[in-house]
Amino acid sequence: MSVLRDDFLWGGAVAANQLEGAWDVDGKGASVPDHCTNGTHTSPKRITVDFEPGVLYPSHEAIDFYHHYEEDIALFAEMGFKTFRTSINWTRIFPTGEEEEPNEKGLEFYDKLFACCKKYDIEPLVTISHYELPYALVEKYNGWYGRELIDLYVKYCKVIFERYKDVVKYWLTFNEINSGTMPLGAVLSLGTVQGFTGPITEVPDEPCVRLQGLHHQFVASAKAVKYAHENYPQFQMGNMICFVTSYPLTCNPADILLNQAKMREVNWYCSDVQVRGEYPSYAKAIWDKYGFELKAEPGDFEVLKEGTVDFYTFSYYMSNCESADPDNSAADGNIISGFKNPYLEASDWGWQIDPQGLHYTLNEIYDRYRIPLMVVENGLGAFDKKEEGGSIIDDYRIDYLRKHIAEMKAAVEDGVDLMGYTPWGCIDLVAASTGEMAKRYGFIYVEKYDDGTGDYSRKKKKSFDWYKKVIATNGDDLD
Ligand code: BG6
Repeated sequence: MSVLRDDFLWGGAVAANQLEGAWDVDGKGASVPDHCTNGTHTSPKRITVDFEPGVLYPSHEAIDFYHHYEEDIALFAEMGFKTFRTSINWTRIFPTGEEEEPNEKGLEFYDKLFACCKKYDIEPLVTISHYELPYALVEKYNGWYGRELIDLYVKYCKVIFERYKDVVKYWLTFNEINSGTMPLGAVLSLGTVQGFTGPITEVPDEPCVRLQGLHHQFVASAKAVKYAHENYPQFQMGNMICFVTSYPLTCNPADILLNQAKMREVNWYCSDVQVRGEYPSYAKAIWDKYGFELKAEPGDFEVLKEGTVDFYTFSYYMSNCESADPDNSAADGNIISGFKNPYLEASDWGWQIDPQGLHYTLNEIYDRYRIPLMVVENGLGAFDKKEEGGSIIDDYRIDYLRKHIAEMKAAVEDGVDLMGYTPWGCIDLVAASTGEMAKRYGFIYVEKYDDGTGDYSRKKKKSFDWYKKVIATNGDDLD
């Protein structure tokens, strides 16, 4: 008998801005990623206020899922997907975030997309906001630093809840909300980059702005969850955390303590609020470190209590180490970086591969919260090469996924309640941190390249059939 639940939600994950393209089609407005150029591992992508002529903005076309979704969902169905995690692009529904009425054409696109999923019995898992803030809200309010965004977000939620109430049951309020605890989150998640043009790594870091912006996101998330629970009892509402497990580099107590502080600030702070409904005991220590004074309004703390999530989801790609000795060398990461672990190998982008870390992380999260968990992102970004004849033999990806699934099963045997698994980028798409196509995650290859060329044709990689077998055996056969 399989270790995993019979109704285990196998599938894949994407985000609208990284695959839909059609960035200004059918009334869509510009979101933050639409203002980002492409980059590479060594040369950061830039955010620009104005669109610069001759410069590539990869989200504008991405892999044109907007016009290929039927073909793509059919391929997901062929792999046996039970669920498909995607986001609704806020700017398709409210192009500037502030319109009185939603954009009907944008709503129709997701009607069609969810109907297509339903045709194949694929359950949508919808991220309400996946790094897709309307750029107009950056310009007017400095993104989530503006308290006004709470009501604008709730208005957007009310529209999509009502529209899709019969076809969407699982919702995630914010993708990787804890990215706001780190400098890069200011660009991707909080949009506190008013007037800034330049490499995203050079956005001046303002921790107090980030922490205040995060408070607004917590309140917005809780209001949306509370509203959903009151009006749509069939909904299951989840949070979503970028979990980068950090280990003390040595058993030096100084490393242990520093690591504990890091784990609290970057991995636990946000979910403690979203799952437990209140700021954790150590919040004040973090605020004091930055000289931050929280501005809250009457009712904020009550709503945090009333809007706690039903399930906890997270992305897991890598782990890092923390050390009190600054001479140790650094490792890379999507949002959160740290020190190199001598026991681990890393991807071409410097992300340290640690399947056992997923086992450990699942146990830690479940011990803390005791609500169902779901791994909604995991995977290997790699340079895929075509063999002669065009096939893509991505054994390295199969190896990465196989080891992570095995550790997931081990955590379930330890007693973790795991709902599902949606590896990231089930079809090749634009990378979020670097804006490139060359970093591919998919089971499906897409003919689209970083110079903007490519005919968007799709091709199954070797991992396609492997994942199909994994799903068909509910994770029993990982060979
Ligand atoms: C997560 C994001 O941080 O990591 C995704 O939620 C992102 O949007 C994924 O794509 C992988 O990162 P990258 O930079 O390789 O695309």
